[in-house]
Amino acid sequence: MIKCKKGELIGIFVFLFFVTASIFVPSTTYATDDGKNLYEGRCLLCHGPLGDGKGLVKVLPHFYKFGKLYTTKPRDFTQKPRDFTNAVFKFRTTPSGCLPTDSDLAELIKNGIPKAYMPPNGDLNQSEISSIIKYIKTFSKIWEENPNDASCAPIAINKPDYVGTLESAAKGKQIWVKMKCADCHGEQGRGDGPKSGDIIDDWGNPILPFDFTSCAAKMTFKPESGYRAFSTGLSGSGMPSYSDSLSEEERWHLVSYTLMLMGKI
Ligand code: HEC
Ligand code: HEC
Repeated sequence: MIKCKKGELIGIFVFLFFVTASIFVPSTTYATDDGKNLYEGRCLLCHGPLGDGKGLVKVLPHFYKFGKLYTTKPRDFTQKPRDFTNAVFKFRTTPSGCLPTDSDLAELIKNGIPKAYMPPNGDLNQSEISSIIKYIKTFSKIWEENPNDASCAPIAINKPDYVGTLESAAKGKQIWVKMKCADCHGEQGRGDGPKSGDIIDDWGNPILPFDFTSCAAKMTFKPESGYRAFSTGLSGSGMPSYSDSLSEEERWHLVSYTLMLMGKI
């Protein structure tokens, strides 16, 4: 049984604070479903007026209590709000190097990214979400050029029945070793591999590999999410795509092994 670490529990507390704030604070600031208004009400505080991630809340991992500054997770530098100006997106169903689809963005905006303290927006309807997406696309010219061609079609994610079996996890372990996931993620998947201290993301910030024994994943703990992460790669983060180097079957066995690392089987 994996125990949550203290830092993560505090993180969840900070996250809940923002969820509550996002429900109460902006509801009076927009009256229409105009994307700019919604962005300014719900996103600007973190992502900034220019979409460059320089909103007021760049200090998210810190909070004050009884006059003292606390850091939610001292080694985790990865929680900076995203800069949209270079149009690099991590959480996609599209292959590495492609822009996300509108439905990828809509899903992300609806669910938020609890681990990165980004609140969910499940109360918005489809047309409100579409108008925010339209607005965040104005922060980068790359969207106008629209480089997504036919090779950028979303990947198929069809979980086979053997995922989660011990036999599949044993095969996945061999793939984990062969592909050197441990260089970054560590032998036990604790995010502490030999390269873990040297990774700088596309926005110039140090970033830690995922700790599989932690209680929070940016993409959720669903088997499909893991499969998506190592199939598409998380662009900009240093987490590579393995769709060229591993077959679909190998990637699903790898999912089984990561489920084992996470204490799910
Ligand atoms: C409390 C701060 C906060 C608020 C409010 C917030 N975000 Fe974020 N958002 C973040 C952080 C932090 C990240 C970076 C997560 C990462 O890189 O792992 C992020 C990342 C993103 C991404 C990039 C996802 C990807 O695939 O790489 C998008 C798109 C996004 N936010 C949209 C929005 C929109 C739209 C809103 C308003 C409806 C919003 N965010 C509100 C903190 C916030
Ligand atoms: C070069 C370093 C590196 C290698 C090699 C690497 N990863 Fe990662 N991985 C990362 C980083 C950095 C992140 C965190 C990205 C973030 O937080 O935005 C990550 C994130 C992930 C996630 C997403 C976790 C979440 O929060 O949802 C999964 C799943 C994952 N890696 C699996 C693997 C597997 C399996 C392998 C081997 C096939 C692998 N990684 C190899 C650096 C690496």
